[in-house]
Amino acid sequence: MFHHLSVLLTESVAGLNIQPGQTVVDCTAGGGGHTQRLLEQVGEQGLVVAVDQDAYAIAHLQNRFALQIEQGNLVLHHGAFSEVGTPTFPVSSAHGMLADLGVSSPQLDTAARGFSFLREGPLDMRMSPEKGGETAAQILAQASQAELAQIFREFGEEPKAHILARLIVAERDERPFQTTTQLAAFIEQNIRYKTKSRTHPATRAFQALRIAVNRELEVVEQLLDRAVDFLAPSGRLAVITFHSLEDRIVKKKMRAWMGKDDRATGTAREVMRLPLTDSQLQLIQTNIRGQALRPFPTKPTEEECRVNPRARSAKLRIFQKADVS
Ligand SMILES: C[S@@+](CC[C@H](N)C(=O)[O-])C[C@H]1O[C@@H](n2cnc3c(N)ncnc32)[C@H](O)[C@@H]1O
Repeated sequence: MFHHLSVLLTESVAGLNIQPGQTVVDCTAGGGGHTQRLLEQVGEQGLVVAVDQDAYAIAHLQNRFALQIEQGNLVLHHGAFSEVGTPTFPVSSAHGMLADLGVSSPQLDTAARGFSFLREGPLDMRMSPEKGGETAAQILAQASQAELAQIFREFGEEPKAHILARLIVAERDERPFQTTTQLAAFIEQNIRYKTKSRTHPATRAFQALRIAVNRELEVVEQLLDRAVDFLAPSGRLAVITFHSLEDRIVKKKMRAWMGKDDRATGTAREVMRLPLTDSQLQLIQTNIRGQALRPFPTKPTEEECRVNPRARSAKLRIFQKADVS
């Protein structure tokens, strides 16, 4: 049984403004909660492409949506969402795209996958283990002290990144890190913070390792870069993030698509106030791909967080592509 409570379900699907007969891509189908709503929106003449890189999620979706697959309203794609816009992806464009980033509850709750420090399991953390790639245990065993510190700092925003990396390197020859609870206990026993936090001291290190194992930030950037071309004119992209690193990437990309990219000619907004040369105007116009629906992200209601504590850190941003591109 695949049990995952979809986050910001109503807000994200309503925000996509899908019309009957349209095509939508659910980039992170998981348990299929968003997929179900999207199928309702596109109706009998529409199409949903549901993507997930996790074989267990795909098997569950095949079962849950057997009828819709048979009727031709749903196509499953077992692969990475960064494949949108590549020749092997099932459709070449969509009116709407949804990405509900991160891990699903079954991934977190299955001890053998090694995502959770609360459940004893191997330090694996790969979302698609059948494709190979390094596990968290291999990173902890093989990365240099400097690389580990960088992982904990950049992907976990861990204030004690250097100390943690040094302690791990000193420990690993004697006792290699093999299980989730072993690593969690090691962090709890050896890292001291000045202020008490409600979260477990291993939270940041586990997030960092998961991001490193699955190259999560890199693939989100790839998805966003492809999404803006892949979307049909006036199409919308909704992205739900669960930590500030991802939200920052999404926010920055959307700002860039609105022509507010600081790397261009100074921010476009500043330039707009000045008389523009033809080449400046052309540069700004070609940079503008559309508009974010709101300047700030939408957050779950208190009620949603009460029912589903995993929703607490969620942020939804929606972007609408311009109608001519
Ligand atoms: C938060 S869950 C999505 C839950 C889903 N929206 C629902 O309502 O059940 C995220 C899902 O995205 C998948 N995923 C994460 N990164 C991915 C990637 N790069 N490509 C494809 N799927 C990915 C995970 O395997 C997981 O099933």
